[in-house]
Amino acid sequence: MSEFIKIVEVGPRDGLQNEKQPIDVDIKVGLVQRLVDAGVRYIEAASFVSPRWVPQMAGSAEVLRRVPRVPGVHYSALTPNLQGLEAALAVGCEEVAVFGSASESFSQRNINCSIRESLARFRAVIDGARAHRVRVRAYVSCVLGCPYEGDIAPAKVAEVALILREMGCDEISLGDTIGRGNPNTTRRMLEACLSVLPASQLAGHYHDTYGMAIANTVASLDLGIRVFDSSVAGLGGCPYAVGASGNVATEEVVYLLHSLGYETGIDLSQLIQAGAYISAALGRDVSSRVARAWGHP
Ligand code: HMG
Ligand code: MG
Repeated sequence: MSEFIKIVEVGPRDGLQNEKQPIDVDIKVGLVQRLVDAGVRYIEAASFVSPRWVPQMAGSAEVLRRVPRVPGVHYSALTPNLQGLEAALAVGCEEVAVFGSASESFSQRNINCSIRESLARFRAVIDGARAHRVRVRAYVSCVLGCPYEGDIAPAKVAEVALILREMGCDEISLGDTIGRGNPNTTRRMLEACLSVLPASQLAGHYHDTYGMAIANTVASLDLGIRVFDSSVAGLGGCPYAVGASGNVATEEVVYLLHSLGYETGIDLSQLIQAGAYISAALGRDVSSRVARAWGHP
């Protein structure tokens, strides 16, 4: 049997948080429904952050109330503090995610506090979530570079990742927030993390700003990473990372993994339809190269 790779679809959150125009909850729910129909099982559908900071995520509670509840489908939401956690628990969220950074400047710009302060704040969120038997994911941003500081030491990434794991996070997602990595820097960063944590506790979260995300995914597979975050139609970016473009398109990742003989449980054809739906709703062309090539010999 082929080896299973877990794909965490972050389009409804990481993707849509960066859109200029307001997006109706109906469209967000329509996207999630199509992702579920395509066999996507892990979906980051919401973000309980300050609506002043990220207005696009304002309808998150309603989105989580309306998404299809299907056995085996797991929804998660970003929760930077206890206020976010309470909102997530109120709508029955079964997984939450805290998001820290390996870059001091990015931490300040993104969540208005130092790395150290953020970790203290996350401890309360993690403890609160675990008390409710809610799974906790943690992001480390800027693992392959920061928009304000440039290079980031792999040892700093490993240090923050280990602290988050020791605080009780189930999975640590390593974010190349600005897509600045290449396979060599990805390998070096992962080797540092793998010297303190097993591959089974790590995920790759690669933005595709310079078109390197698929190459970085292959480098990560070689080092044993088996969880990848991606965004249907390559939606997104980060509002606090100037110049960051979307996550690697889920279509590209699924095509890669299936070509290499891995299993994802995702139907590529239906996934492409989900990408076409959200691209049409946002009034733009389909950006995934796999989607554009699909159906042609
Ligand atoms: P702050 O201003 O320091 O917070 O922001 P505060 O505690 O002083 O509160 C200020 C106001 O925000 C108050 O409202 C709070 O009620 C409200 P006011 O009294 O002024 O009307 N507030 C909230 N409202 C709703 N939900 C909450 C919440 N918390 C406070 N949870 C804070 C600190 C963290 C809240 C803010 O900086 C924030 O919301 N930042 C979010 C930034 C963000 O969402 N960035 C994008 C996601 S991260 C990302 O994309 C990277 C990732 O994909 C990985 C990668 O690619 O690297 C994950
Ligand atoms: Mg991201």
